[in-house]
Amino acid sequence: MNALTRNRINTKIGQWQNDLDEGNYYQTWYPIHLARELKQGQLVGKEFLGTRIILYRDASGKPVVQSAYCPHVGADLACGELIDGAVRCAYHHWRFGADGRCTDIPSGDKIPAGARIYNYPAAEKWGLIWAFHGETPTFAVPEIPEVDEADFIGIAGERGERPIDHWLSTSNAFDFQHLRALHGLPAQAEPKEIEITAHSLEYGRGGNGPFRHHGKVTGTNTFAHCVNSPAGEHFMLVSSAALAPGKSLSFYVVGVRKSATDKMTPRALHDHLAQLEANAMKLYTEDEPVLFSIRFRGPAEGNWVGADRHLASYFRYLREFPQARPFDT
Ligand code: FES
Ligand SMILES: [Fe+2]
Repeated sequence: MNALTRNRINTKIGQWQNDLDEGNYYQTWYPIHLARELKQGQLVGKEFLGTRIILYRDASGKPVVQSAYCPHVGADLACGELIDGAVRCAYHHWRFGADGRCTDIPSGDKIPAGARIYNYPAAEKWGLIWAFHGETPTFAVPEIPEVDEADFIGIAGERGERPIDHWLSTSNAFDFQHLRALHGLPAQAEPKEIEITAHSLEYGRGGNGPFRHHGKVTGTNTFAHCVNSPAGEHFMLVSSAALAPGKSLSFYVVGVRKSATDKMTPRALHDHLAQLEANAMKLYTEDEPVLFSIRFRGPAEGNWVGADRHLASYFRYLREFPQARPFDT
């Protein structure tokens, strides 16, 4: 894309595009649905990556995520039904298996070689259904630092659609000035160093002291942390799916180490988790008026200072992150 085209898009969208070429999306794991809201036998249609997808559970309960448009003449398969584990298109009743292949054409015609729908790599973790943008995942589904899913108990929720790109939400986690200024969090939250790999940014690993904050971004869109303070240990994960340019769908997970709740009554655990969820909602509520109205100025356009160095690291990382055009767009 030349500078003129990019500038035109910037003006149109009114946001800094961060080198994401038109029609492309980052190749990361996106949370797309609350796991508890995808029941066996249910067929759900959703907007995702500038197109549409369907999702359901296969016979073993594993999530299946596929492109929504029927390869026959293009009906949205979400209008169809799940029958004997196959998706039946509403329009002419062609059926597709969990591997995406067409298995039946009622007219008796030979099944065309191209009659298959695209399967997104899919997973279920932390109470969320995830889909990877790409043929094969290049890294694992995001972890929450210092806790295994088997030893985690918490709440997963959907914050809803946001009129911003997901990278803006994620950048918020590296904007340490705002943690103090906007959220009033303690200065100890700021790390000295950030470890950067091709698919993650991480800080606060292996630290000690009365207040520990171990945070990690996985891919471009998932921030998770473990916080240890005199008040106890807790975990949070926030992540968003890219729906279209300038539009995302946000999810959160909050919780504690299950093995540390042995002595808690169910009521006390419920109240504790509800408080963690309320704290997360407070952060969203404080951020949203700013993030939803910002005209983001990146490191090249804004007046960034030394205190923005971690934010700058995130944007350098983002610039290198693989991106691709989604299937059927
Ligand atoms: S459009 Fe789906 S079967 Fe014809
Ligand atoms: Fe924030």
